[in-house]
Amino acid sequence: MQYKNLGKTGLKVSNLCLGTMAFGRWIDEQASRAIIDAALENGINFIDTANYYGKGQDAEIPYGTGECEEIIGSALKGRRDQVVLATKVGLSMGSGKNDSGLSRTHIMREVDRSLLRLQTDYIDLYQVHRFDPLTPIEETLRALDDLVHQGKIRYIGCSNFAAWQIAKAHGISEKLNLEKFISVQPQYNLLSREIEQELLPFCESEGVGVLVYSPLARGVLSGKYKNLDDIPPESRAAHGERLIKNYFTERNFQLVNGYRALAEANGINLSQFALAWVLNQPAVTSALIGASKVSHITDAVQVSNWKWPEGLMEQVDSLNLKKVDFY
Ligand SMILES: NC(=O)c1ccc[n+]([C@@H]2O[C@H](COP(=O)([O-])OP(=O)(O)OC[C@H]3O[C@@H](n4cnc5c(N)ncnc54)[C@H](OP(=O)(O)O)[C@@H]3O)[C@@H](O)[C@H]2O)c1
Repeated sequence: MQYKNLGKTGLKVSNLCLGTMAFGRWIDEQASRAIIDAALENGINFIDTANYYGKGQDAEIPYGTGECEEIIGSALKGRRDQVVLATKVGLSMGSGKNDSGLSRTHIMREVDRSLLRLQTDYIDLYQVHRFDPLTPIEETLRALDDLVHQGKIRYIGCSNFAAWQIAKAHGISEKLNLEKFISVQPQYNLLSREIEQELLPFCESEGVGVLVYSPLARGVLSGKYKNLDDIPPESRAAHGERLIKNYFTERNFQLVNGYRALAEANGINLSQFALAWVLNQPAVTSALIGASKVSHITDAVQVSNWKWPEGLMEQVDSLNLKKVDFY
């Protein structure tokens, strides 16, 4: 395992971060605990969650209900301090007008609820889940800054922000002497490389930590899907994950075949290849792995230090030409 400083801070995080979106939603508490145990035993010291993760998020209950944080809180009893714990706020947690977004009211209410569910009195990294165009960013930053001073959170980060949105927030933080976002959490994988245009160069230039989600394109880069009519049972597509089918294009299936050949030629499996590619991007601090089985952790750990062979990046780019059709 490799450990890196998160952004410009002194906080050390493993280059694999345990993503927990599946906990309490597609996998039960017992299976989730086994994955947390395996991650910690293998040197992963970084866990990412969100108040939103868990049941709900469907037509019947179109908001988050917090089960994922509850599972993590209970699993970390007695070992909370071994982990850098990141969670998020901003997505819908109820049907009321103030039950989502980045207003002071919503943030102050949700941080206390997250602390209760996580059974802790501090959150290491508190991230805003996505930009809120309806709330002045100054209001959000003042609320987050207050929470740092109250000791409820230690660092602040953002997720799904464009480079200009972070730059705007940083400018306001500097002017008003408020806490600054130290990291961003974008989607990044071999099928979806948009952030190479602006966000990654911006983060390298400004020393912003980059925590990438969906490094396996929600499982498509494991090669388990051959086409729309061939969905393995127990997979995320079989569970009906809304976003996964955006990846099911002819171009992506072709690319997956090309990457599989490169992986085999280099003696690792396709999932490991896709993860190692992300980990070898200089701007990336940590990759969020969305394990749904313990074996996904062991697969990932085997490539956390994998030395990327000379010339292989060029082979990858010759397949891809950096063209994207996701989003
Ligand atoms: N900030 C945001 O807006 C945002 C959005 C999405 C995710 N996230 C975070 O990022 C984390 C990771 O995202 P993700 O779950 O989409 O990541 P991912 O790593 O792209 O996808 C995870 C899925 O890939 C499959 N998989 C993983 N390792 C495998 C292996 N070794 N062999 C075969 N299949 C493997 C599993 O699919 P099956 O379960 O089908 O087997 C697993 O559920 C989330 O848990 C969450 O913490 C954040």
